[in-house]
Amino acid sequence: MKVLLLGNGGREHALAWKIAQSSKVEKLFIAPGNAGTQNVGENVDIKADDFEALKNFVVENGVDMVIVGPEDPLVKGVYDDFKNDERTNNIPVIGPSKAGAVLEGSKDFAKQFMKRHNIPTAKYETFDGTTVEEGLKLLETLKAPYVLKADGLCAGKGVLILPTLEEAKKEFKEMLGGMFGNASARVVIEEFLSGIECSVFALTDGKNYKILPEAKDYKRIGEHDTGLNTGGMGSVSPVPFATKEWMQKVEDRIIRPTVEGLAEENIEYKGFIFFGLINVEGEPMVIEYNCRMGDPETETVMLRLKSDIVDLFEGVAEGNLDKRDIEFDERAAVCVMLVSGGYPQTYAKGYEITGLDKIEDSVVFHAGTKMQDGKVVTNGGRVIAVSSYGKDKSEALQNSFTQAQKIEFTDKYFRRDIGQDL
Ligand code: AMP
Ligand code: GLY
Repeated sequence: MKVLLLGNGGREHALAWKIAQSSKVEKLFIAPGNAGTQNVGENVDIKADDFEALKNFVVENGVDMVIVGPEDPLVKGVYDDFKNDERTNNIPVIGPSKAGAVLEGSKDFAKQFMKRHNIPTAKYETFDGTTVEEGLKLLETLKAPYVLKADGLCAGKGVLILPTLEEAKKEFKEMLGGMFGNASARVVIEEFLSGIECSVFALTDGKNYKILPEAKDYKRIGEHDTGLNTGGMGSVSPVPFATKEWMQKVEDRIIRPTVEGLAEENIEYKGFIFFGLINVEGEPMVIEYNCRMGDPETETVMLRLKSDIVDLFEGVAEGNLDKRDIEFDERAAVCVMLVSGGYPQTYAKGYEITGLDKIEDSVVFHAGTKMQDGKVVTNGGRVIAVSSYGKDKSEALQNSFTQAQKIEFTDKYFRRDIGQDL
């Protein structure tokens, strides 16, 4: 079959790498892709949210399945757009409907959904421009640190954790005053939860689900979790505290109620659900939902998925995911992200990347790269994900760090402490 994957980051290169291994796939297109995805498929110069151009491409090229990497096209309704067009309504889109993507697109909706279905999460209240005083009063009753969340999508920047009441009040007013534009027209004030985070992923056909290997990501730019938040500096799978017993709690209290809750509310959801969890004294609680896979978690999770991912996607499309097998690689997998100096603030692009041909024991996924005059050059903050297997986490990390030294570009930076806290 012919498959079209949407997106252009490290997550998409990892998905493309895995999809290309499927015996069911005769042709893989990636729109728009990056300098790495062209090694496993054919890049198509269409933006992931240009639905008209995507539909035309799908029809003209006889594409049989569309897989959506990032949240943006999902939140904008790519699933519904294909479904409501008679030219494409028979082509499965792997990803939730617009109504399902609201789990990620609105923090307030996600919190209300969890409340309706008794899914463990932090206590919260939502405020808007008409309830500023009430919000400030609530902050006075809480203990530091204070958690403020813009309701809408903010490219991962919409959550503020403030150490003092004074800062919390100031930022709360600024958020409602338009700090993140319309995305912070409503702000969620949430109880602070203390614990270690873990990302858990499920693939669902709307009724059945399969749980993928869990992973932990490293969000801060600096070693030992210091400095600004990034899109993610590395990831590790498996996560030691995600034991069989803990994962059973996650399934019983979080995953099953979420899938059943979506079905009860008639929300069409055929795709990945990303559960951003926190382990609070042994009890899993939900920090957030995302309507897609994680990045850079996918760069380790795909290494640990042994089964044919396209077979699973067919199960999603046909509503018989329960009939499909899912198997994991017992080895550990880690990912170390090489980023541009200056990221997550300002950084330069267009530097030549060398040494990619010297990589031996790792799988290199491109995140922010492109081809320029026949050379691979940097084209983003997160540039290259170096993913490796090992008999355990330390061996996998050793592999990634060794290979990471071989790849060169001006002002390359990476964290050398990935996985050390576990
Ligand atoms: P989110 O975008 O909702 O994942 O939030 C970004 C990050 O903020 C999370 O990965 C957590 O590290 C942190 N965070 C969010 N909500 C809470 C909370 N209620 N308690 C503690 N940390 C939180
Ligand atoms: N790694 C976190 C995310 O993809 O949102």
